[in-house]
Parts: sequence; structure tokens; C-alpha cells
Amino acid sequence: MRIDILTLFPGMFTGFLEGSLLGAARAAGLVDVRVRDIREFAEGPHRQVDDRPYGGGPGMLLMPGPVVDCVEAVQAEADAGRVVMLTPGGRRLDQALVEQLAKFERIVLVCGRYEGFDARIRETLDADEISIGDYVLSGGEVAAMVIVDAVARLLPGVLGHEASADQDSFSGADRLVEGPQYTRPREFRGLAVPEVLLSGDHGRIARWRREQSVAATSRRESASQTPFQRSTS
Ligand code: ADE
Repeated sequence: MRIDILTLFPGMFTGFLEGSLLGAARAAGLVDVRVRDIREFAEGPHRQVDDRPYGGGPGMLLMPGPVVDCVEAVQAEADAGRVVMLTPGGRRLDQALVEQLAKFERIVLVCGRYEGFDARIRETLDADEISIGDYVLSGGEVAAMVIVDAVARLLPGVLGHEASADQDSFSGADRLVEGPQYTRPREFRGLAVPEVLLSGDHGRIARWRREQSVAATSRRESASQTPFQRSTS
């Protein structure tokens, strides 16, 4: 799979692309991730990429010219691919959407900065918009990293253990979260590993894990309805 990331801050991706899982996947040729600087496509002595919104309002918007030229330049290098703009108002990312993205041969991720994009960018490129959650980031770069990370680990051969992606939270038809897991030592500060996990009875372990997953999923649903606060104890 090839992923192009278009940004005004290419330096933000340096450490990220070299990181363990992704760095190894790139080195093994399992995923080809390329970063392009939108400013290369800006014109004039100041290489301007943004301007004030018509009709007034705060901040600056990315101008259509440099963004569209940059997307078209990377599209010309290979087939057009799916163009995705990262915006807080886009379709919310979840594991089902990550799975769909992982099936594309090629995606082009466009990171916004400032107050957003001129609306004609999306129209011209026939782009999709994705948000990584209902909060506002200072730009799309972190959101692009989230997508690349989540998509890359689903590509064949990227995870060491082939089965591990289907055991993840939100995988499988019912999209449950994972329940608690334990490793050594068998007892830590008075907390013992549940006896069932030491039983060697795989049927019982699978049933217990499933119950724990269902319980963790419903606890998570109710937790999201209550305010996040410091415990008083
Ligand atoms: N850019 C700013 N906020 C964002 C968000 N929540 N998701 C994706 N891109 C963004």
C-alpha cells in the first residue's frame, strides 16, 4: 500500500515514520509512506499558502491553489488513489473505517492547519473528510499519524503474529473491547492472576475472556456518560 501525506510541517513525521512497527514495515516494503510539503507548490516570494476568510471571521484558511497542485502532483506519480482531508468535521474514524482504508492500494492524506481549508479544495479533489474524534487539533498532522498507524498494522505481514489484529479491541463482528490481560508475576502487590487463566482449560479461558470483554464494553459505554473526575478516595 502507498500512503502520501501532504502537510505544511513535514518535519513532524520524521520520528514517527522511523518508529518501531512502521519503520520495520516500511523497511520490509510492506507499506510505502511519503511526505510532501504543500509549500513547495506555493507561489510568490513569500510562498503564501493561507489567507483570510471571505465574509470575515477568525484565523486563516488554506488557499486552494497550493493544496490542489500538491495533490495532483502526487497523483501523477501513481494512480489517483483515495484523497482524504483531515478535518474535525469529517466522518469519525473507528476500527471499521480503518479496515476499509486498509483495503485501498493508495491513499492521499491532506493535513490542514490554521482554521481549515477553502471549501473548493474538497470539491475539486472529490475528497473524503475524516476526523479522529470530536475535538479540535491544531492541525491534521497528528490525525494523519493516527490513520497511518492504525491502517499499517492491519496490512498483511506487518504484525509479527498474523492473528493478533483480529484479537484487538473493536475487531470482529461485535466490536467488543478487550478485557483484562495478565503476564508474570502471578501475584503483584497482593493482586493475583485470575485462576481460570492458569487452568490450561482453553474452552473455559475463551468463555471467561468473552464475558470479560462484554463486561468491559458495557462499563465503557456507561463510563462515557459520566463526567471524568478525580476520585475522592
Ligand atoms: N484537524 C483538526 N482537528 C482534527 C480532528 N479532530 N480530526 C482530524 N483532523 C483534525
